[in-house]
Amino acid sequence: MDIKSIKSQFPIFKKKINGNPLVYLDSANSSQKPKAVINRMSHFYENEFSNVGRSVHTLAVTATNRFEETRDIIKDFINAKYREEIVFTKGATESINLIANSYGDKFMNEGDEIILTELEHHSNYVPWHYLRSKKKAVIKFAKVNENLEIKVDEIKRLISNKTKMIALTHISNVTGGISPLKEIIDLANSKKIPVLIDGTQGAPHLKLDMQKIGCDFYVISCHKMYGPNGLGILYGKKKWLDLLPPYQGGGGMIDEVKKNTISFAETPTKFEAGTMQTAEVVAMSEAIKFVKTIGLDRISDHENKVLNYAIEKLKKNNSVKLIGNPENKASVISFTIKGIHPHDIATILDEDGVAIRAGHHCCQILHEKLGVPATARASLGVYNTKEDIDVLDSAIKKCRKVFNI
Ligand code: ALA
Repeated sequence: MDIKSIKSQFPIFKKKINGNPLVYLDSANSSQKPKAVINRMSHFYENEFSNVGRSVHTLAVTATNRFEETRDIIKDFINAKYREEIVFTKGATESINLIANSYGDKFMNEGDEIILTELEHHSNYVPWHYLRSKKKAVIKFAKVNENLEIKVDEIKRLISNKTKMIALTHISNVTGGISPLKEIIDLANSKKIPVLIDGTQGAPHLKLDMQKIGCDFYVISCHKMYGPNGLGILYGKKKWLDLLPPYQGGGGMIDEVKKNTISFAETPTKFEAGTMQTAEVVAMSEAIKFVKTIGLDRISDHENKVLNYAIEKLKKNNSVKLIGNPENKASVISFTIKGIHPHDIATILDEDGVAIRAGHHCCQILHEKLGVPATARASLGVYNTKEDIDVLDSAIKKCRKVFNI
């Protein structure tokens, strides 16, 4: 793959950070944006802007068409069966809140159980916590093993006749571990338990096929896959979305409004209340074009090479402790250095233009289990190279010198 040419499509890499070329290793947090996405947003605002799904003037009709075309593009991209299975939301957090509320209101009662895992980031825990309080439901956490992996047997151990939902991450944003989705979904299907996959880290790195994966809900964060901020994609099987009540009320999601009765629009419009993101949705089609042109298989292959190089390199660095050792892994490495707080690591690395994230990565439950308040994390995008890892490694060595370790 010609990474140089791919990287040249991202204007941000022209910037120097503290006098150094930017080595961006924080894509699990948010990816950088290619010029095509940025241009599409400006073009939309300059030439095509209008609200969608309301007026009948030329601009409004064109904007609505572009918006709905993106729904089709996404349907094809993730191989959903129906275009109605694609709902636009504000982000992954809103998508999971939508399901926790709508599904929870309709199908959950006191004592019903939700299975999560110790790997979940807060977006896939806090909405279920609210549901737990509202419905007096129970949350069970599948425990990670010594490699910080989730295995199907642990999920099996937790399932009971009260299990009403299994919600888990596709790829851990701390360990990079890839969950054994097929085994878990087969098990859940055999017991008729719906499964929600938090694909915030999965979608940018792995080829998706909803019909093959067979989950009931899959959540995508657009800003982590080279797209605009403030936009999420919720995939839901049509049979579920048709059954679930709307999550928020407002303009655009209704059919008929009377003083005493309200009927709602069909799926998916009934879940898209208020003025929707427009430039963001339209520009997301460019992000998908960008990913498709390279090919997700090639993106995964390239990122895995860089990841394995990074693991080997950092393992040689005696003071670095890698967090977790999952067998199937993608795109993320978290680590600690004895005697240096992760925030100090991140600050010193930044002097060399290396951008990593330090903290609990919105995964306090996992960090509590690890017995550390924070870790340092390097996460990859398609634009990263082995040379970036060399710069990371030298910056870590410099960091040790600063702290005399
Ligand atoms: N944005 C969060 C991350 O950095 C969850 O992984």
